[in-house]
Amino acid sequence: MTTETDRGTTRSFLFVLGSSRADGNSEILARTAAAQLPADIPQHWVDLNRTPLPDFEDDRHDTGTWPSGENEEELRRVTTEATDIVIVSPLYWYNVSAQTKRYLDYWSGWLSLPGARFKERMAGRTLWGVTVMADDEEVVADGLVTTLHHTAAYMRMGFGGVLLGNGSRPGQIRDDERAMLRAKTFFQSATPPALFPYEEGTAAEES
Ligand SMILES: Cc1cc2nc3c(=O)[nH]c(=O)nc-3n(C[C@H](O)[C@H](O)[C@H](O)COP(=O)(O)O)c2cc1C
Repeated sequence: MTTETDRGTTRSFLFVLGSSRADGNSEILARTAAAQLPADIPQHWVDLNRTPLPDFEDDRHDTGTWPSGENEEELRRVTTEATDIVIVSPLYWYNVSAQTKRYLDYWSGWLSLPGARFKERMAGRTLWGVTVMADDEEVVADGLVTTLHHTAAYMRMGFGGVLLGNGSRPGQIRDDERAMLRAKTFFQSATPPALFPYEEGTAAEES
């Protein structure tokens, strides 16, 4: 695994924990994957329950200053500093948790924050996902996978995919041998630029 990006910047990982409980299955699976990262790649972990955000208010088209809180500022700072963002969310109603969704909603606000250049800064970075679900059939997580993939496509980021696991009670993910094994090599996955389905043919023609 390279510790430098194509832009020559040193890689650093941000893990965004979005479960409604501490030490849950998604976090265990993410920590198993993160343990394989080279020691010289910095990891920053943020728990959305400990850095709570109020419901997002869509002020994007209002004039005036942006009233951001301390937690929002902190999350924006750590998000823009990382080269790799890992969304760690349990599967809730076939998608990311509310905490995670709210965090992503704030990305929309940051897109129009004067001087932030959020989209420009995030372009070329990589989005990853880690999720655990009670269902044995991984196909039911397609909605979550699409959410994260299309978010990466909109932001012009690379997409490393979603590490999926099965479990319900806290710690049960450890019984999912396949997921624990996949975790060991997850961050070695390819991270191609995410493209919307309607862009894929165009990209093939261009190459
Ligand atoms: C609000 C809520 C919604 C859930 N929705 C789903 C679901 O749609 N599909 C599923 O397979 N499991 C669902 N589950 C089960 C969790 O995904 C499962 O318990 C998972 O292990 C929780 O991860 P965590 O320990 O990281 O919080 C749901 C659990 C909760 C609390």
